Order: sequence, then structure tokens, then C-alpha cells
Amino acid sequence: MSHDARFHLAGLMGFPVMHSRSPLIHGHWMREHGLKGAYVPLAVPPAGLEAALHALPSLGFAGVNLTIPHKEEALRLVDEVSPLARRIGAVNCIIVRKDGSLEGRNYDAFGFIESLRQGAQGVDLSSAPAVVMGAGGASRAVLAGLMDEGVPEIRLINRSAQRAQALAAEFGGTVRAVKWEERAGALADAGLLVNTTSQGMQGEPALDLPLDDLPVDALVTDIVYVPLETPLLREARLRGNKTVDGLGMLLHQARPAFEDWFGVKVDVTSALRKEIEATL
Ligand code: ATR
Repeated sequence: MSHDARFHLAGLMGFPVMHSRSPLIHGHWMREHGLKGAYVPLAVPPAGLEAALHALPSLGFAGVNLTIPHKEEALRLVDEVSPLARRIGAVNCIIVRKDGSLEGRNYDAFGFIESLRQGAQGVDLSSAPAVVMGAGGASRAVLAGLMDEGVPEIRLINRSAQRAQALAAEFGGTVRAVKWEERAGALADAGLLVNTTSQGMQGEPALDLPLDDLPVDALVTDIVYVPLETPLLREARLRGNKTVDGLGMLLHQARPAFEDWFGVKVDVTSALRKEIEATL
């Protein structure tokens, strides 16, 4: 088959899946680069994941993204897991290799770091401690990204102390669990504050975190992107902190997936951002 005749096929497996912006993101890049193809939402219930993954090579898919509830289960089902996906404990991108085998990767840490780089140009992550709120799945990708960027100290704070302690013990290195009760004081001398909890999401209360001790030159970011400006980001902006919203992480994690599947390098342009922002 000539390159031109190829129908470029990828998608997102999740349950539910229809709320996802990923079809718009990948569709934007297909149009931008003149690729014939489709990125489709695939509503796959948990019991169907294994069969759905094994069908990908015969269906001609270049790969898929995975979202809730499949990211952890896929570790068991693919033929090879990248070391980073293993460390994060989740697969968010599957590549169908030439021989029909499946490789699982995770681009959430990449997406998080690239979003900071684009949103706060010249950001230096290696010179001050970071505070990470939350110890769920999203936190694991953020921790891996920050560790690999050489952040000198990562203060991990979670409402349930035990979960933060377990995660800090698992990741080791510069990650240290700090008690929820000590969260306000933990912001003193921080260079970065990250919210990975669900607090501040549309329909949820704001994250309960007084910012008084946070240096005004610290960068504040949220992985929540609905709303784009969470109460945390708004408060941070109003007191003079630089902020980066959560949409960038979603956009940037998609880049390496598109490149892996279709061999075309893509960028997060303001046109792409605007298109997705208009749907929030
Ligand atoms: P995800 O995979 O998206 O990170 P998760 O694993 O359900 O989702 O984690 C949600 C995070 O939000 C957790 O850190 C959770 O804290 P607990 O481990 O104590 O549950 C945090 N979270 C949820 N509701 C919260 C609240 N009301 N106050 C503070 N943190 C909250």
C-alpha cells in the first residue's frame, strides 16, 4: 500500500469515553498534515478490554490511547511495557508494532513537563522544592516527570496520609510525604505547586489550601482543565503567581502518541489550543 493510500487509524479506549477531547486533538493534526484517517472514541467496558486490544492489529489500528478505567489493567495485557509506564503504573498509549505485538507507554509525565515548559517559558525546575497535592493516578505521572527533571525536593501531600506515605516510599529519591495538616507551611520556599486532586474540578469544591506562605515567584499549576481556571489558579494569579492551566498536559501528551503512530511530528499551536478551549 502506498503511503497516500493508507487510512491512519487510532482511537481512545475508555468507559465512558464520549466526553474526551482527544478525537478533536488528533483530528486537528490529521487535517493540518493532510493525513487521511480517523481517531475514534471506543467505548470498551472493562470485561472487553483484552479482546479489544487483541483486535487492534487485524483492524489496522496504529495504536490507541487508554483512559479510565483501563490504564492500569493494560500493564498486564500488552506484550511490552516501557520502563516509565511501569514506574508510573499505568499505560496511556499503545503502539501496534509491525509484527502485531502491542507496546504500552505512558506520555502523561512528558505532557505535564512540556506543558510547564510551554506555559512558563524558561521555567527552572531544578532550583527549588515542588509541592504536589494528591496521591492518585495523576500524581504518579507528575512525580515521575518532576523526578526526571531533577527537582531537588518533592513534598507529597494527600488528604489520606497513608496513601502519600506509600507513594513516597515507592518512588523514593527526593519524594517526601508531608502531613495534610502541615500543607500550608509546606509551601514556604517552594518553586512549584501542583494540584493533582479532583478538587477545583467543575462541580467539586476548591482545594482547601491557604496560599499565604507560597513565594510569589512560585509557579502554580493544576491538572484539572474544566474549568480552565480553577479556584486555585485564580487565587494564585490574583496574588501574583505565574500559573499554567491543565489543558496543556492533555494537549502535549498527545504529541508523542501521534508521532509514534503516524511518523509525523506535531506541535501544540495556539490554533489547536483555541479549538479545544472552545469545547470546555
Ligand atoms: P486520579 O487517578 O485522577 O489521580 P484518584 O486516584 O481518585 O484520581 O485520586 C484523587 C485524588 O484527589 C486523591 O489524592 C484524593 O485524596 P485521597 O487519597 O485522600 O482520597 C484527592 N481528593 C479527592 N477528594 C478530596 C478532598 N475532598 N480533599 C482533598 N483531596 C481530595
